[in-house]
Amino acid sequence: MLQGKKIVLGITGSIAAYKSCLIIRQLIKKGAEVQVVITPAGKEFITPITLSALTSKPVISEFFSQRDGTWHSHVDLGLWADAMLIAPATASTIGKMANGVADNMLITTYLSMKAPVFIAPAMDLDMYAHPSTQQNLKTLQSYGNHIIEPGTGFLASKLEGKGRMEEPENIVAVLEKFFSQQESMKGKKILITAGPTYEKIDPVRFIGNYSSGKMGFALANECAQRGAQVELVCGPVSSSMQVHHPNIHRIDVESAQEMYEACKERYPSMDSAILCAAVADYAPETRADQKIKRTGDDLVIRLKPNPDIAASLGQIKKEGQTLVGFALETNDEESNAQAKLKKKNFDFIVLNSLKDKGAGFQTDTNKITIITAEGKKDYPLKSKVEVAKDIVDELSALIPKP
Ligand code: CTP
Repeated sequence: MLQGKKIVLGITGSIAAYKSCLIIRQLIKKGAEVQVVITPAGKEFITPITLSALTSKPVISEFFSQRDGTWHSHVDLGLWADAMLIAPATASTIGKMANGVADNMLITTYLSMKAPVFIAPAMDLDMYAHPSTQQNLKTLQSYGNHIIEPGTGFLASKLEGKGRMEEPENIVAVLEKFFSQQESMKGKKILITAGPTYEKIDPVRFIGNYSSGKMGFALANECAQRGAQVELVCGPVSSSMQVHHPNIHRIDVESAQEMYEACKERYPSMDSAILCAAVADYAPETRADQKIKRTGDDLVIRLKPNPDIAASLGQIKKEGQTLVGFALETNDEESNAQAKLKKKNFDFIVLNSLKDKGAGFQTDTNKITIITAEGKKDYPLKSKVEVAKDIVDELSALIPKP
């Protein structure tokens, strides 16, 4: 999987820098080409001579070569690489990456990078647990970067034992898995719905819900990273929710009716749809043209049912197409989910229970059960990015391969 892959390895000023040698050795043994970019602080921990001997390439650390003044092009490196790995990544480098502070060659290379980026943090627990470090890691993750940590890839929860850099063989295994999956959905077309819908009452008020869109965006990123073309139909989400992958085409809608139209038009040409949006089941029967004024009387808003996007796609689903739904339940979770699986003609349904702490709306984590006609699989609490991988693994197994 790593044969012929070009890896830019960024090394920063942490005691774990000595482990970079082990990473390089394993990458090279597996056939990869490694170009080291090291920060000035990194050189205090490990010498460029060791690194260049291992990689058979001069180590880059300054904007200009000290020997002959040749300019090192971070733009060329960004185009050359199949992946960038920053291991170890200190709190300082993580902060600079998240905020675009391009004061060394490693950060400029990162900002020019066209390939996927993997970050293995290394620091003491207090620095790691600080809200600023956690926020920076979340920011980097939202840009589609992969954070490699010991254990399950948690951010912000279960901090014990965190901060220490993941072991070299596990870091290399993450890269191998990534490359083996990179093409697994190549050419497949996936429709994803995400976020809430807003149903207008008058020009300034609406009926909505707490969905953030995070789960749907994580799914869109995961499918895109595996080579799929994604149509992401999203309801009104916060402006901080952005997609950066070129394989994702985002369509913004507001109401359930608009989301329905966008999906109905697209689904016939798709291989699959994942319906992650929290669609309002009802909308006001009439929308007031002017702001509704307060009166002394009770106010009654009559609601009419919205189209059920999932059920209508389930009806037009053809042989070879798949359809995945979500169910957020508060009681009788599994039997309700089983009923929805049948009613909406889903291939599988992803169940979240509001009884589980850390699952559902507005959180960065989720705890799911995947329910098929044959049975169920329970998963532990994970970040939504990791949950997306589990869901897409399940989906990939169902999509016919060429
Ligand atoms: N869904 C949809 N269109 C709707 C309502 C729901 O596409 N109008 C989809 C959701 O995106 C989700 C699944 O259907 O994938 C289940 O949503 P949920 O709201 O739990 O189901 P409902 O059919 O609304 O069932 P109930 O309100 O009875 O729980």
